[in-house]
Amino acid sequence: MQLSDSFGRKFYYLRLSITDVCNFKCEYCLPNGYQHDKKNCFLSLDEIRRTVTAFAQVGTEKIRITGGEPALRKDLTQIIQTISAIDGIKKIAMTTNGYNLAKKAQEWKDAGLNQINISVDSLNPHSFNKITGVNRFDDVMRGIDKALEVGFDKIKINSVLIKNFNDHELSLFLEFVKQRPIEMRFIELMECGETNSFFEKHHSSGNTIKNNLESSGWVLNDKAKDDGPALVYSHPEYLGKIGLIMPYSKDFCVTCNRLRVSSLGKMHLCLFGDYGTDIREHLQQDSQQQQLISLLHQSVATKEVSHYLQQGNTGQTPHLASIGG
Ligand code: 5AD
Ligand code: SF4
Repeated sequence: MQLSDSFGRKFYYLRLSITDVCNFKCEYCLPNGYQHDKKNCFLSLDEIRRTVTAFAQVGTEKIRITGGEPALRKDLTQIIQTISAIDGIKKIAMTTNGYNLAKKAQEWKDAGLNQINISVDSLNPHSFNKITGVNRFDDVMRGIDKALEVGFDKIKINSVLIKNFNDHELSLFLEFVKQRPIEMRFIELMECGETNSFFEKHHSSGNTIKNNLESSGWVLNDKAKDDGPALVYSHPEYLGKIGLIMPYSKDFCVTCNRLRVSSLGKMHLCLFGDYGTDIREHLQQDSQQQQLISLLHQSVATKEVSHYLQQGNTGQTPHLASIGG
């Protein structure tokens, strides 16, 4: 039976975090870098297989692999292969900071990866290096070229909107997607537990970009079933598209179609404000799939209608590296 909640939303899409570790230090996420915790033991290949198999049995068709930085897992290629062999999974996407994409794009594609999202907060090398805390701009750009070359079904670039930092770069980003079949997505900065002073200084609404696009010939696209809450615009003179993710806008949660599992085996019904349901004890043996499926149904039935971010709810989310964005 298809997973659905008490508001009639159906869940086709699982965001699966496979590690909390990241090698970047984005100012709004891990400003001091990832702090290693020896106790943490991330989901094993078998646990990942059992998670995805159970979700696929209740209607999940798309998996996004997230982190932290998923490419830091040595068994990433095997993880992709394993997920892609599971009945019912039609699409595998991954979000990466792109640090080793140039080297790995072909291998991941051959393993079954269909879509890739790369985080690029600035197209100015100096600003990019400043916000991420590492000198990796050139590596990431080479990674994007390589991703285009190997031909994924979809390539997206994520850029978090940061006031007084990248809010004057719209024209650079537009130029970037003019001749490239890439969807450039602007994400409003979200408030998290450990970075709220950054949020207060730098949050800026996506409405300025929205108005700008709408007055210069960009047209809003219709949504497909597995599309998320992004507003996606296209323009006849551009090969690429522009997406806007505005979690602070009214009705953002109405089209929610995704669930999350953290790298420690907790299922989260929302990015914000929930402690997560521990599913790990049911991931230890193939024979426990039915118990796992019952737990998924029970838990999803309690999903709330909205994230209540507007009311300042940051819930239990210290930073998005802990739950995969
Ligand atoms: N607000 C909005 N986006 C964020 N990301 C990480 N932290 C935040 C935040 N506080 C983005 C990353 C990446 C994606 C996984 O989430 O830049 O593109
Ligand atoms: Fe790493 Fe992504 Fe967080 Fe940046 S936003 S520190 S790349 S997990």
